[in-house]
Amino acid sequence: LRTVPPLQLGEKYFHLFPNERDPIWGYPCADRRHMQIWAKEKSCDQLPKFLVIGPQKTGTTALYTFLAMHPAIVANYPSADTFEEVQFFNGKNYYKGIDWYMSFFPVPANSSSRFLFEKSATYFEGEMVPQRVKALLPHSKLVVTVIPPSKRAYSWYHHMRAHNDPTALQYSFHQVITAHDGDPRPLRSLRNKCLVPGMYAKHLERWLDHFPASQLILIDGEELRSDPVYVMNELQRFLGIQPFYNYTEHLRYDKRKGFFCQVTEEDKTKCLGRGKGRIYPPMNESDAKLLKVSTGEGVTERVVGKMEESYCACGLCYLGMKIEV
Ligand code: A3P
Repeated sequence: LRTVPPLQLGEKYFHLFPNERDPIWGYPCADRRHMQIWAKEKSCDQLPKFLVIGPQKTGTTALYTFLAMHPAIVANYPSADTFEEVQFFNGKNYYKGIDWYMSFFPVPANSSSRFLFEKSATYFEGEMVPQRVKALLPHSKLVVTVIPPSKRAYSWYHHMRAHNDPTALQYSFHQVITAHDGDPRPLRSLRNKCLVPGMYAKHLERWLDHFPASQLILIDGEELRSDPVYVMNELQRFLGIQPFYNYTEHLRYDKRKGFFCQVTEEDKTKCLGRGKGRIYPPMNESDAKLLKVSTGEGVTERVVGKMEESYCACGLCYLGMKIEV
């Protein structure tokens, strides 16, 4: 038996197993041997118990804010680089490793009784994300928020206009959603950002390839907007969080904002910033119709079949939902 220095050994290894060049971080506490060589101060309790995975523009910030109000729930520290979200499982941050990820979470004294979580709305449609989450957080629960895909697309378009995106300013919503593959790249890219995250069935299929339906909950983002107390109660039950937090006392409809906001004092509320709950003209009826043409009902039924338990056990049935793009 012959061996070679570590560097050459590494090169040889990746030559033999090229698929393993891309790391997959595994759950450190799955194997006792890993735990034995892990630094003493590290603990799997510093990993989140659940994730809010998006998609963007469906009410994820409101949900994050309401969750963070709960005394038994602890949110991630905000990241300065990615609009406060950690965005670990998609993109380059993944290569920074588990320690980097864990540094976004506190190690509370009695951490096991507290629910750490993070919200990264870009996780939902990320190609590699379900596989990576499953490897590192096999027991985590997943919270997905959905609104009709047409409304999500329209909200994203206005989000980009509000950020002075030149493409969104140059083209109408109609031009964006009807862009063809021969159109300029920025236009196609904006079209995709409007439409792709709303292809819920396709993305859910991928998550369900890795997670049992019982670990996933779908939140109706429109219900979260109109009746957040009900939704937060259902979510607390699904997550099995104790003590039960009475949101009725802590959320109040704010007439000026037109949304539910956090009660701070007897007569004061704290609402989400100007970027959430924007005011823009209603969508053209013809665009709304165009987007409602269903192309994927069969796919949706399959997904719904797999998810039936979690859909309806929580009273958040989305059985009638169609893929609208
Ligand atoms: P609009 O700004 O298009 O109305 P996200 O946080 O995932 O980006 O979602 C933003 C959307 O959350 C907003 O889209 C808004 O409709 C919705 N929303 C739901 N509840 C809200 C609340 N309490 N305050 C503000 N926005 C809320």
